[in-house]
Amino acid sequence: MLKKIYHLGYAVQDIGAAARFYEEQFGARAGEPEEVVEQGIIATMFDVGESKIELVQPTSPDSPVGKFLAKKGEGFHHVAFQVDDLEAALEELRENGVELIDEEPRIGAGGTRMAFVHPKGAFGVLTELVELPEKDD
Ligand code: CO
Repeated sequence: MLKKIYHLGYAVQDIGAAARFYEEQFGARAGEPEEVVEQGIIATMFDVGESKIELVQPTSPDSPVGKFLAKKGEGFHHVAFQVDDLEAALEELRENGVELIDEEPRIGAGGTRMAFVHPKGAFGVLTELVELPEKDD
């Protein structure tokens, strides 16, 4: 089911400062920050080989990432695995009784189709499944 680690998501207070840090200290090239209104976040990504790091800043303290920051502070937030068929993956997990946050795919940053699996059912790790718009690995 899992093709690769598509990205690791980091929760940050200031996406500009975090992007600058990775650009200046590690030579990363962060993309334009993009607001995902439905999730209450601004996100930007940079490539690390075949995978990416996603920096996520909440747009309000009441958003899920805002609450995460208040509770746990900045740091690792979620892993995103690329899958070929998101509906099929969700169906399989549902049939196996795995707790999902998103019963149906949503549109995430970069126009990807995505859904979150609840960390309770995934050994404490918030797990995102991503299906890319076109088949570029
Ligand atoms: Co993500």
